[in-house]
Amino acid sequence: MATKKARMTDQGPAPGYAVLDGQIVPFDDARVHILTHTFNYGTGVFEGIRGYWNDRRDELFIVRFNEHIERLVANCRVLMLDPGHSVDEITDLCLDLVRKNEFRQDIYLRPIVYCPALRVGPGMSDEHALAVYNIPMGHYHDPSRALDVMISTWRRTDDNAIPARGKINGAYVNSSLAITEAHRAGFDDAILLNPDGHVSEGSVMNLCIVRGGVLITPPVTANILEGITRADVMGLAVSELGLRVVEREIDRTELYYADEVFFCGTGAKILGVGSVDRRVIGEGGVGPVTRKLQKLYDAIVHGEDDRYGDWLTPVYAG
Ligand SMILES: Cc1ncc(COP(=O)(O)O)c(C=O)c1O
Repeated sequence: MATKKARMTDQGPAPGYAVLDGQIVPFDDARVHILTHTFNYGTGVFEGIRGYWNDRRDELFIVRFNEHIERLVANCRVLMLDPGHSVDEITDLCLDLVRKNEFRQDIYLRPIVYCPALRVGPGMSDEHALAVYNIPMGHYHDPSRALDVMISTWRRTDDNAIPARGKINGAYVNSSLAITEAHRAGFDDAILLNPDGHVSEGSVMNLCIVRGGVLITPPVTANILEGITRADVMGLAVSELGLRVVEREIDRTELYYADEVFFCGTGAKILGVGSVDRRVIGEGGVGPVTRKLQKLYDAIVHGEDDRYGDWLTPVYAG
């Protein structure tokens, strides 16, 4: 039977090319076998990277490229995966792919280090490979609207179960359960608690609250992904907004008392939360600190704030 050619992804036109086994191939040839170990057991690590198109500068800017690839390679340690390439080689390969796809719109880039072995049984073999895809991508949620979220009945996986820090493919079943539950219950998204009952993060994004002029976020030991955007937001809060930033445990009910709650992440960007468990947060809209951070972040990632030019890798001029 002839296989159908992908003309579209759920995010827009299908790209021309992807990377499979470390080689650039036509997008429709980037397929894996049904027996592939990672398809069966989730034994891979991945990254989610965004690029933003700037019409005025006629350029596509990839955000925090090096930090993402460094995290990918670091995360390989958890599963004892060998990415088979250095950080620079993976970066160059990803950049070659993005250039070849010639998108002139906002994009998403996903490198995955995975186990290609056709092998039954969860034990991993020593065979590891690199795949990358690059597709157009718009907003994850509309950033102008404050989200209605619930505390998930699903707990974030513990570091000694499946470490959230590792950005492990199989770990995202935890996020899928939380998002799907929230959608079916009529919410926009979910916040997950740790096994000990404290706040960890959103389904696929980190979480911050603003209370009494202080920005508070759970520490990296709270079963969170050590978010690149989280670190940037903490930096901007101090340097641009003059806020005090504190990393500490957050109780569930502190969310109800917060002046603002917001999510941050590469995919999500910065998103205000208007209610948690149907309790209105602050005025119920996107709060003033969240709005300021959204504006700053948006300008930076679109290449409109030269002070933060070092966050960006230009795709076509470079
Ligand atoms: C579970 C989870 N937490 C947080 C984040 C945010 O991390 P980053 O800002 O590095 O994209 C992500 C990914 O985007 C995620 O999947």
